[in-house]
Amino acid sequence: MKSIVIIGFGGMGKRHALDMEEFTGRKIHVAAVCEPDDKRYAQGCEWLKSSPKRFTDIKMMLDEIRPDGAIIASPNFTHWDSLSHFKGRNIPLIIEKPLDSTMDKIFEIVRFAESYIAPIMVHHVMRYSPIVRKARQLMEQNVLGKVCSFQFQQTTHGAHYHNFRRTMATGGGQLLEKATHDFDILLHLIQSRPKRVAAICKQQYFGGDRPDDLRCNDCPDIGTCQQRDNYPREKSDTLCTDNMCVFAKCVDVPDNELCMIELDNGVFGSYSNTYFVWGGYFFSRVYQITGTEAVMRICFTMPHPEKDHYDGKIEVYGNKGWYEKYEFDYEKRIHYNGAPGVAAHFHELLLDNAAKPYSPVNEAFAAELIAIAAYKANDAGTFVNVRDMLPGDIKAFFEKTFLL
Ligand SMILES: NC(=O)c1ccc[n+]([C@@H]2O[C@H](COP(=O)([O-])OP(=O)(O)OC[C@H]3O[C@@H](n4cnc5c(N)ncnc54)[C@H](O)[C@@H]3O)[C@@H](O)[C@H]2O)c1
Repeated sequence: MKSIVIIGFGGMGKRHALDMEEFTGRKIHVAAVCEPDDKRYAQGCEWLKSSPKRFTDIKMMLDEIRPDGAIIASPNFTHWDSLSHFKGRNIPLIIEKPLDSTMDKIFEIVRFAESYIAPIMVHHVMRYSPIVRKARQLMEQNVLGKVCSFQFQQTTHGAHYHNFRRTMATGGGQLLEKATHDFDILLHLIQSRPKRVAAICKQQYFGGDRPDDLRCNDCPDIGTCQQRDNYPREKSDTLCTDNMCVFAKCVDVPDNELCMIELDNGVFGSYSNTYFVWGGYFFSRVYQITGTEAVMRICFTMPHPEKDHYDGKIEVYGNKGWYEKYEFDYEKRIHYNGAPGVAAHFHELLLDNAAKPYSPVNEAFAAELIAIAAYKANDAGTFVNVRDMLPGDIKAFFEKTFLL
């Protein structure tokens, strides 16, 4: 049995703990967690139905437990600080996306990853889902012919604005925090680096003049506020463990965004996300990729209100009239049922730390550069060339990405 530790035992940390134990048939055991908040620790133990040893200091935990592996699931703005405690160690890691919330700290993580001995796997859980694996297989089989362009789009609700994701400093903005999944899948499917990005990013709904420390349960408008913290916890548990006001003064994260992206191989397209659309069960995430021979449409969220869960579908429309459809039952799991694949792969990395992660840091970094370039492009009102943002050592690292 392999012993791991988890840094940040909140919404995602506690989910990792249970997934690692359940999906590996207890070949992975959570020996300890580093969690500063008493209530979060208690909630995590209740969720896991066991009480891993608790620390509030990462170094002390690593020195005492000497784990076989570790997972960093603290808030975005703490990732670099958490990771820096692994300097000089040889412990396989999962680090949550995004790598951190600012460009400079993300560069530090990239430098760290270059010299770290053990594998670091970024938790791009969508890569491990059966629907994305099938899409990747279809791309490898060249069913689309020459790939030319794409449109990726998602609309969702404001749960993300109730927690650390509501400010740029702590979350990094939705293009970095959440769309990084979509950018990662885009690059994973098309196997190219980003070249240049233009964007319009607006804050059209969230934010306002409410006090920064206001929480839903203390708010006089709890009865009438459309955005009160009432998201179904059993469905969105990872995102709704806080109830800060989404109309607070400090909220500065755009909630409606559109990017135009060109990749190094000439493929181009758009990505858009909107965060204030939630008609009870409406949440859309649809990717369309166009080639010279066919169009592939990946729909992650086929709503079935009567069944109280989503499933997914890939459709391929051939130019000569052929049509293929693949359907995916997520078995009522979030993240499109990617977690079993994540746990199995992490176990492989624990057994063989020379193995290559399926979701490595350099590819996550390439995806995050789209987000960073998009925010710069929005400020500048022009296209931003991704390479222009990179210092020499980081550029060298970037150029190695997606070289087969
Ligand atoms: N890959 C995915 O699909 C996915 C889904 C959800 C969240 N996430 C990522 O997981 C991370 C955590 O998100 P969450 O939703 O669980 O947030 P959360 O707020 O629910 O949990 C974060 C936990 O970390 C603790 N914490 C704060 N500072 C810490 C520190 N310095 N060291 C250790 N612990 C600390 C907090 O007390 C809290 O319990 C984020 O980076 C987020 O982007 C990824």
